[in-house]
Amino acid sequence: MSHQNLALDVEAIRDEFPILQREFDDQQVVYLDNAATTQTPDPVVDAMSDYYRESNANVHRGIHHLSQEASEAYETAHDRVAEFIGASGGREEVIFTKNTTESENLIAYSWGLNELGPGDEVVLTEMEHHASLVTWQQIAKRTGASVEYIRVDENGRLDMDHARELITDDTAIVSAVHVSNTLGTINPVSELTELAHTHDALSFIDGAQAVPNQPVDVEEIGADFYAFSGHKMAGPTGIGVLYGKKELLEAMEPYLYGGGMIRKVTFEDSTWGELPWKFEPGTPPIAEAVGLHAAVDWLEEIGMDRIRDHEQELARYAYEQLEDEGDVEIYGPEPGEDRGGLVSFNVEGVHAHDLTSILNDHTVAIRAGDHCTQPLHDKLGVAASARASFYVYNTREEVDKLVAALDDARQLFA
Ligand SMILES: Cc1ncc(COP(=O)(O)O)c(C=O)c1O
Repeated sequence: MSHQNLALDVEAIRDEFPILQREFDDQQVVYLDNAATTQTPDPVVDAMSDYYRESNANVHRGIHHLSQEASEAYETAHDRVAEFIGASGGREEVIFTKNTTESENLIAYSWGLNELGPGDEVVLTEMEHHASLVTWQQIAKRTGASVEYIRVDENGRLDMDHARELITDDTAIVSAVHVSNTLGTINPVSELTELAHTHDALSFIDGAQAVPNQPVDVEEIGADFYAFSGHKMAGPTGIGVLYGKKELLEAMEPYLYGGGMIRKVTFEDSTWGELPWKFEPGTPPIAEAVGLHAAVDWLEEIGMDRIRDHEQELARYAYEQLEDEGDVEIYGPEPGEDRGGLVSFNVEGVHAHDLTSILNDHTVAIRAGDHCTQPLHDKLGVAASARASFYVYNTREEVDKLVAALDDARQLFA
């Protein structure tokens, strides 16, 4: 179906997600766990199933028709993703990985392990996801580099004065989350990248919660590296993206070795193939690449601006409803331009896990826990929070169901 030039027709969009019609105990599911994984629309499922039915074969190696078709589909998916995120270098700047986590590890191992040493600083933010925080921590330990954290202020924003203090000529890389998966904060990543570049440092941006939800142009941001996951953007699991500037990727050693990534192998040594294949050894996620391509088409047909606006409006509505409750503590900035489509909160006297379990009795699906940001939760002074996260198919009525279900939790636990 075509979404373009219409006001956002959420009902028509929902029709493409049969899973949203599912019922448990006669109640239709209210899916508000999109920051963890989004649902997959029919056109994406169809593209993958067509691929398996009609074109399935291994890539790169075959000269038979099916392998050629599969290779073409796999390679074209790189071009489509490059176009989607504004990578003018095309497929050479787009590496397919398993997920954001693997993209982070690729840079940490390929670049970090070789380039970092004692005296170098890796600057993170206090709101990093473990995917980046744990990875850089470990690489720093192995190389003798140190890790510094840009403070999060009391409003859930980065303290940019502190960023200016921390980012110095000793900084080797600044690794920052674009949109916090806990606070919802949309960080000034262009400014951070500029600061890094002023000091001849690189920038790595974790866009796992940005690319699915708002327009992203990696060249406008100026990022050296940028990562995201297919499964958070209406695409399949098992595929992630690492964008990197061509000259940096060319200079980097591969992180995984094997078939498909080499130019020449002898008993003594090996040389590497072209970008991006140099970083994609073994049989890659071919059907997933086809699915990701379809997801990008699907998202662009709706329009990333409209998706962002819809989600921000739902997050604002949820924020206001929750704020009105009086006994709810909400984390992150007030609704506005720099807040994305999720709301993390706690209800006084009710543990986030209990809350989520009661909401599940109402078939409202949200997430409780530390959302892979334990140090940030320590700073907030709580072990866990509940998080409702929205996508293009969510509605105000679903937010109302979430808020109404909180009463039950209060009665049982408070
Ligand atoms: C900000 C952020 N970074 C990284 C990740 C890790 O993504 P994945 O599990 O797909 O590797 C997530 C997932 O929740 C995230 O929200």
